[in-house]
Amino acid sequence: MKTLLLSLLCLFVWNQTTEALTDQQVVLGQNVTLACEFKCNAAIWFLLKLPARPMMILRTFASNDDTETDYYNEKFRNKYFVGNRSEIVINNVTDDDLGIYFCIKAGFALKISDGIRLKHHWSVRVESNRK
Ligand SMILES: *[C@@H]1O[C@H](CO)[C@@H](O)[C@H](O)[C@H]1NC(C)=O
Ligand SMILES: *[C@@H]1O[C@H](CO)[C@@H](O)[C@H](O)[C@H]1NC(C)=O
Ligand SMILES: *[C@@H]1O[C@H](CO)[C@@H](O)[C@H](O)[C@H]1NC(C)=O
Repeated sequence: MKTLLLSLLCLFVWNQTTEALTDQQVVLGQNVTLACEFKCNAAIWFLLKLPARPMMILRTFASNDDTETDYYNEKFRNKYFVGNRSEIVINNVTDDDLGIYFCIKAGFALKISDGIRLKHHWSVRVESNRK
């Protein structure tokens, strides 16, 4: 009985982790825009690169007409920009930026989005050779 319960739990956890990820392919050196699924003006973005702990990137606040942005690390100021409705724009993607991005909708209960996994888009070279 205990084993069955454990297997069910494992299955549940496994399902959760596989379904909570979408892949987004990128070409190194380009800019890429990631959309926060919550479409709110106040969000927090972080990057997960296992086995390291999550790295906080930035936080946006809704003010009168504008969205204000706080960076958790000054070095991110040239790397990450905020687009409409808490989209995050990654400037000049490098290997170092690949990982799983999440946004958090702040509030009484924090809501964490599904992950967006950035991956290399290897087929581009093939595409352009064909022309
Ligand atoms: C990426 O964004 C930066 C800043 O907005 C811009 O200067 C640059 O031309 C963009 N690069 C590409 C490949 O679109
Ligand atoms: C925001 O949305 C407007 C109107 O849809 C669009 O013209 C603009 O390019 C968008 N800005 C960004 C940073 O995505
Ligand atoms: C993009 O990043 C690479 C590696 O850091 C750098 O060599 C290159 O100059 C950058 N390109 C732009 C347009 O910033």
